[in-house]
Amino acid sequence: MKRLFSGVKPTGDLHLGNYLGAIKQWVEMQDGYEAIYGIVDYHAMTATYDPKELEEYVFKCCCNYLACGLDPEKSILMIQSQVPLHTELTWFLNCLTPVSWLERVPTFKDKVQQQADNINLGLLDYPVLMAADIIIYKAEVVPVGEDQLPHLELAREIIRRFTSQFGEVFPEPQAIMGKVRRIKGLDGSEKMGKSLNNCIYLYETKEEIWAKISKAVTDPARIKKSDPGNPDICNIFSLHKMLSTQEVQDKVVEGCRGATIGCIECKRWLTDAMDEELSPIREKYFYYMERPEEVSEIFTDGNKKAAALAEQTMQEVYGKIGLKYKFLGKR
Ligand code: AMP
Ligand code: TRP
Repeated sequence: MKRLFSGVKPTGDLHLGNYLGAIKQWVEMQDGYEAIYGIVDYHAMTATYDPKELEEYVFKCCCNYLACGLDPEKSILMIQSQVPLHTELTWFLNCLTPVSWLERVPTFKDKVQQQADNINLGLLDYPVLMAADIIIYKAEVVPVGEDQLPHLELAREIIRRFTSQFGEVFPEPQAIMGKVRRIKGLDGSEKMGKSLNNCIYLYETKEEIWAKISKAVTDPARIKKSDPGNPDICNIFSLHKMLSTQEVQDKVVEGCRGATIGCIECKRWLTDAMDEELSPIREKYFYYMERPEEVSEIFTDGNKKAAALAEQTMQEVYGKIGLKYKFLGKR
């Protein structure tokens, strides 16, 4: 089985976009790959953050991983900073990576605009750390969203440099994109995300979901129930396509185009479908939130397994890059 690595940055609570766009695929991929799923807390430090909040988000992210169905019996579940070899390898990769490559990365350019008061070196180095996350496990497959493709391309370029200067250690990883590339938020225009207040969090109750969905943007041309609507341009319908049965989807298309149902009815059905998908996750999330010892045991075990794999790779790397120091004895 091929090795796989992916991770989420713990900068907030996980939402429906994270679930449908990433974690749901990860759960399915557990059977076909030797998967390692990380919570990439070092990456979260590239924006100004509150230390207490970071710890909380990491714990909640652990609970969400388990609640969504990531299974420690099948995959390695780990926290990036608990395998500090990631940063050791990053240092070495830093010395291989021209600054000009990093300055061209689109996410870096975006961040320069978004957080002009904190353009730190970690932000520039972000893709190199990401490359280290992947190659320290010799992962060949990396499921990510579209926005991460330039990072994967850079990782491959860094590996090619490594291989040509020091020899073969790392396979070139391939990005895999899920069926769902980009989920729009409840505003109907921007990508669903925590920063825009346009998302449904995985822990939200049906009442909370309804409160948000009932105010969500629909086909703007449809003002009254008697106006026929166009589901193809309505974000509520695009969510139906990801969550509702074919039967409900057909009812929506017919009712909306024929103006026999109103947006409120359509939104009720969506809320039902969303709650059906999220309620088992929500239940398990609160189960784990109340059992930090159980969560700790699972992730401590995952961290150990990941550290052992990382250590193996690093031994090989030390030999190639001139850090084996035979005169000091066995490293
Ligand atoms: P982030 O929360 O931006 O760190 O994203 C974590 C993972 O969730 C990445 O693989 C993203 O591609 C995915 N993701 C986040 N928001 C969305 C969205 N609105 N649509 C699709 N995928 C998303
Ligand atoms: N940069 C990724 C994101 O923002 C998170 C990430 C860090 C990652 N290291 C990774 C994803 C390694 C895949 C593989 O979503």
